[in-house]
Amino acid sequence: MAGSSNVPHKTSLPEGIRVGTVMRIRGVVPDKAGRFHVNLLCSEEKDADAALHFNPRLDQSVVVFNTKEQGSWGKEERGRDFPFQRGQPFDVLLISTKEGFKAVVGDSELHNFHYRIQPEHVRVVEVGGDLQLESVKIF
Ligand code: GAL
Repeated sequence: MAGSSNVPHKTSLPEGIRVGTVMRIRGVVPDKAGRFHVNLLCSEEKDADAALHFNPRLDQSVVVFNTKEQGSWGKEERGRDFPFQRGQPFDVLLISTKEGFKAVVGDSELHNFHYRIQPEHVRVVEVGGDLQLESVKIF
């Protein structure tokens, strides 16, 4: 596939995140990309629960949002449009709001994913799949 050597990437967040935390992920979608993901995981362990799985699918032109709890995926939600393109840079903000994780791509809000797992439980930001990662910043 079109993965690159700078992923998977993990940023540890020993103190978790809180309402107001902004995670900014910038990168480039490779020409032959299939899918990539940003996972907000609840521990460093292998089968950690995911409070958010943010999953742009170039093969389906959809962004899937979900949780994973005890190894099982929850109910998928989808972004309102598809702001990614093969060969193009992207800038994603995942903002922890009072209600959920708000995903903003470029200038527009893609989705507000209501919490199933509270943001205080997040310990790791993991980025992987088919992308060239430029930066992960937490504010
Ligand atoms: C599955 C896929 C996983 C994950 C999940 C999200 O079909 O294999 O990688 O994206 O959907 O619901």
